[in-house]
Amino acid sequence: MSRPQSPDVPAFRRAMGLFATGVTVVATTTPQGEPICMIANAVASLSLDPMLLLVCVDKRANMASHILQAPGFSICILSAEQEALSDYFAGRWRGEPPPFVLKEWIGGPLLGGCIAGIGCEKVQVYEGGDHWIVIGQVTALHSQDSLPDPLIFYGRRYRYLASA
Ligand SMILES: Cc1cc2nc3c(=O)[nH]c(=O)nc-3n(C[C@H](O)[C@H](O)[C@H](O)COP(=O)(O)O)c2cc1C
Repeated sequence: MSRPQSPDVPAFRRAMGLFATGVTVVATTTPQGEPICMIANAVASLSLDPMLLLVCVDKRANMASHILQAPGFSICILSAEQEALSDYFAGRWRGEPPPFVLKEWIGGPLLGGCIAGIGCEKVQVYEGGDHWIVIGQVTALHSQDSLPDPLIFYGRRYRYLASA
């Protein structure tokens, strides 16, 4: 058993990085109709009745001001084949953007090839320290008929499902 660590920010990030998650694109649209996208893994299902989910958005992110003023947003769950898009929408990509398609949809844009899309009406925003906790009521669902492999984030790296 390893020693308890003092709860400083790097230790907290390291510990939370051991919570394996999927990777999503949170997307919204400006009043001019321009799509805005950001990678987020701080996404959770919140309630079934009504159907609610939450996403936590860094107050310093470009997405923050857009999602605060938008009536809705979407969450698109990335497949293992969409790792390049994760780097791109997280601002980590240099050079020619990887190819992608964003379709106008309900709540926010729908990313072509995503495993699933959840369109939301924004219903609440709470302060959560240096992030906004944005709550959406589900207004649209999209999923692929097949069960594609998801992109996974664990230990601050992308991972992939081992085949059964
Ligand atoms: C796997 C992964 C998960 C992330 N999760 C979140 C998140 O849940 N919330 C958040 O605000 N930023 C998250 N980020 C960081 C943002 O994607 C990144 O800081 C943002 O795109 C920077 O935006 P800006 O340069 O346009 O302000 C994550 C990044 C990665 C690579």
